[in-house]
Amino acid sequence: MSPFLLTRTLPDDATGADLRADVLHGLTRTPKTLPPKWFYDARGSELFDEITRIETYYPTRAEREILIARAPEIAAITGARTLVELGSGSSEKTRHLIGALLPELHSYVPVDVSESALRGAADALLADRPALEVHALIADFTRGLALPGTPGPRLVAFLGSTIGNLLPDEREVFLKSVRSLLAPGDALLLGTDLVKAESVLVRAYDDAAGITAAFNKNVLAVINRELGADFDPDAFEHVARWDARREWIEMRLRAREAQTVKVPELDLVVRFDAGEELRTEVSAKFRGEGVRAELAAASLRLDHWWMDEESRFALSLATAV
Ligand code: AVJ
Repeated sequence: MSPFLLTRTLPDDATGADLRADVLHGLTRTPKTLPPKWFYDARGSELFDEITRIETYYPTRAEREILIARAPEIAAITGARTLVELGSGSSEKTRHLIGALLPELHSYVPVDVSESALRGAADALLADRPALEVHALIADFTRGLALPGTPGPRLVAFLGSTIGNLLPDEREVFLKSVRSLLAPGDALLLGTDLVKAESVLVRAYDDAAGITAAFNKNVLAVINRELGADFDPDAFEHVARWDARREWIEMRLRAREAQTVKVPELDLVVRFDAGEELRTEVSAKFRGEGVRAELAAASLRLDHWWMDEESRFALSLATAV
């Protein structure tokens, strides 16, 4: 059985320092914001897994449908010996890809900020793919990555439309940094949720059972635990809104009444007016031409564009040029 390697590419307290900087910056500006990566502690990762099973949250199902249909083609086209997955989470969908890439596949390199998600995913994978080398990286993939020296060709997968959580200028920086991990001929597999009817989008981000609301509020629990803050999650209401001009969904937490929150670790006291909204996530929705242009700007050539049966979601396969 191949070893399971786990590398933390950041110093032990880097996550804490990052969180402090993000919270200080985000809660002292107008409007208030927090980056979505802080949803994903063990509880948040669990809640996200629950979201992927909600009837109205279609992206995971649509992307899985495409992956199952196209995995053999992706394997034949790329011949990848190393699969790097950014924001791998539970790696559930990726298993279809790994199955198709074997036996040529030598290494799987899942990258995530959640150590619990990485360990769970590796355990599950190694149980049925004992020959695979799994080299997990605890890392923030928006900060530039150092990859282990595993054999090429490389395929970097960035699934789930997680790229939609970045703002347009952040996406440009991010895609260029992904390109820098690739040699000419290596490939990027990118999942993007597509623009569609507002009612469908809003239902995906505001489910009837309140799971997305709990996921959204979990960021407050993370800040309470990590920074000693006294947020009352019940004092905030989950909001999901479609921004038609920028073509993105925004999740927000709206203060039900005026309140003051203390963040002792930051020596910070934050005032919320009644009805004030804190933006916790942007989830951009894409169009084919936009994806092609963003990839091209990072020297990535869009070679294949695959959609699910209902054209809700797309997988792009791009080659580094
Ligand atoms: C993990 C980025 C795919 O934007 O759809 C799900 C997270 N947020 N419901 C998304 C999420 C609210 C999500 N991604």
